[in-house]
Amino acid sequence: MPARSLTLNYVSYTDDAQLPADELMLLQQAREATRNAYAPYSHFQVGAALRLAGGQIVVGANQENASFPAGICAERVALSAVAAQYPGTIIQAMAISYQPAEGLSNHPISPCGICRQTLLEYELRQQQPIRLILGGFTGEIIVVPAVQLLLPFSFTPDDLSAKPAAPQKG
Ligand code: THU
Repeated sequence: MPARSLTLNYVSYTDDAQLPADELMLLQQAREATRNAYAPYSHFQVGAALRLAGGQIVVGANQENASFPAGICAERVALSAVAAQYPGTIIQAMAISYQPAEGLSNHPISPCGICRQTLLEYELRQQQPIRLILGGFTGEIIVVPAVQLLLPFSFTPDDLSAKPAAPQKG
């Protein structure tokens, strides 16, 4: 069997000073959005900022719940806000930042599995990549040019509508 491989192309910047201005602006919005987190259980505050094609910025922050699974991540709060307030508008980029319980965040985090799946659905619907800008409050920043790169072998709407193969004869 031939071995196959996948390549993930992304950009890594050592700090804010290297990041293009528009991406730094969005990351700053995500950092600010961490203040809107409701995270009394994990004390891990996440902020997401989305830039739309019309130039609007939509932010979200994680919202936890005493019934833990009812909590929702910052990314999906922001995506749902776009769906509610700017339906059909293209999402160009999402920046994600966070603050842990103590100290200043100093490295990027990337979206959890559920958020990757949700982000992918938005990316497929709009047929345009959503750029991800991932960074703490200081340190390295990673830019991934499309969500689909973070979810190889993904489950997509095509799988739901795929026709089963005809039964073999004989
Ligand atoms: N969280 C997010 O909001 N986004 C992520 O990408 C990772 C995790 C939240 C969920 C929970 O409120 C807290 O961070 C700890 O997992």
